[in-house]
Amino acid sequence: MNIAVLASGNGTNLQALIDAEKRGELAGAKIVLALSDNSGAFALKRAKEAGIETFVLETKGFSSREEYDKKIIEQLEKAKVELVILAGFMRILSDHFVDKYHGRMMNIHPALLPSFKGVYGIKDAFDRGVKVSGVTVHFVDRELDAGPVILQEAVKVEENDTEESLEEEIHKIEHRLYPEAVRLFVQGRLRIEGKKVKISK
Ligand code: GRF
Repeated sequence: MNIAVLASGNGTNLQALIDAEKRGELAGAKIVLALSDNSGAFALKRAKEAGIETFVLETKGFSSREEYDKKIIEQLEKAKVELVILAGFMRILSDHFVDKYHGRMMNIHPALLPSFKGVYGIKDAFDRGVKVSGVTVHFVDRELDAGPVILQEAVKVEENDTEESLEEEIHKIEHRLYPEAVRLFVQGRLRIEGKKVKISK
């Protein structure tokens, strides 16, 4: 199974997936393409170092979201991608794109959805003073950060935690949880039933 990872920034989740693939933990699936909207993304460097093909599509010059997404879809189809992984991809996707990859596109969010949606999941949860936050991996649907939940893991916010220490804990969980969700998908063990994802043994 061919996987593409879309990332705009640092790419530590991409790296975790690359490492998991190397260790044989993605059930034989292969990351064949890394896409970014940001030519300066460190994620692209990580991909190149791992010998993964990269594609950059800056957003300027496109008159609509859909037009941009069509170019991305072209690349995904060319690379025969069956699973799309969003890993810190900072663009909102068009309904056309989301519908086309329904049940075949995942995202990771650094909070326990449906709480603290949006770009500042870690900060918002920390500032709100929650005692528990965590990580969510979910399928992507038309509504932002609201698709069917695949995996979640909680982390306790301790008395002496700072936003930075919480972030560190959350990233550690992300780097374990995302490869696990991908492996379950590749093994054909995820079934979407409405808003629920059933995981078979
Ligand atoms: C992660 O915290 C992820 O949950 C969020 O964006 C961040 C990406 O980090 N969607 P990285 O680029 O994978 O290091």
